[in-house]
Amino acid sequence: MFERARRVRKGRRYARLLERGASRISRGLERRLASRSPLREVAFARSRRELDERMAAERTIGDVLDTTGTFYEPNGAYRGYGPYRSLRALQHRAEIAELAHEVRARDPETVLEIGSANGGTLYVWARVLNGVETLISTDLDYRGRRALLDHFAARSETSLRCIEGDSHEAATTRAVREALAGRPIDFLYLDGDHSYAGVSADFETYGPLVADDGLVGFHDVETSGTGVPRLWSELERAYECRTIGGTDRDGPGTTGILYKGGRS
Ligand SMILES: C[S@@+](CC[C@H](N)C(=O)[O-])C[C@H]1O[C@@H](n2cnc3c(N)ncnc32)[C@H](O)[C@@H]1O
Repeated sequence: MFERARRVRKGRRYARLLERGASRISRGLERRLASRSPLREVAFARSRRELDERMAAERTIGDVLDTTGTFYEPNGAYRGYGPYRSLRALQHRAEIAELAHEVRARDPETVLEIGSANGGTLYVWARVLNGVETLISTDLDYRGRRALLDHFAARSETSLRCIEGDSHEAATTRAVREALAGRPIDFLYLDGDHSYAGVSADFETYGPLVADDGLVGFHDVETSGTGVPRLWSELERAYECRTIGGTDRDGPGTTGILYKGGRS
């Protein structure tokens, strides 16, 4: 009887493995087909045209945020198609505006963002940081939007490297280091995994790569239900830090800026 139960369990395990393998293959196939579909190409061409018009009209940080839209202003002036339909930044307008001003004043050459979602904040860095030389982004899944991200980066004279993967995995860290090619990060923006362990791991892994006078931005340092406030209160005791943006415990909110070498 035990032998039979063991065989049944083994059979189920194989079936699960086969199922997982099949769904992985079909997801890969779907992506490959989607990336070649003529519909997708039309969507990209139209989205690119829309975005080019917006980029040509941008003069200020406010204009850039008008393009993307923000958390409470979801309808940005840019309206794309298909997977490129939105560049919305999941931020309060005031907090991302102030952060962008502060980071721009430092004229960073190298920026790493963990967690790019629609590409909203990535767009802000590309557009506002005066052709930042090296812009690196990591996300678990760019959901087929890479072409648009590459496009706005190229139009902004920024070399963008998107690394799809878990920021905690060694392969992702290796790819980030390769993209940095020995240069320190001037601005690190952490907006990926919001669990205490996750954001702490990101800070421990990528924090040491930040220049001695560099900045680290954390999103949601006051957002309940995430682990960011706990890490933030620890960091505030160890580093010079300030918070910007209002308190919005139910929505995205409050950015923390950590000054690695103190505030100058
Ligand atoms: C809040 S969104 C980022 C919003 C974006 N910074 C903006 O406002 O435009 C969080 C993103 O982090 C990504 N993410 C979560 N955990 C991650 C991890 N361990 N490694 C890389 N990306 C991660 C998610 O896929 C999601 O796209």
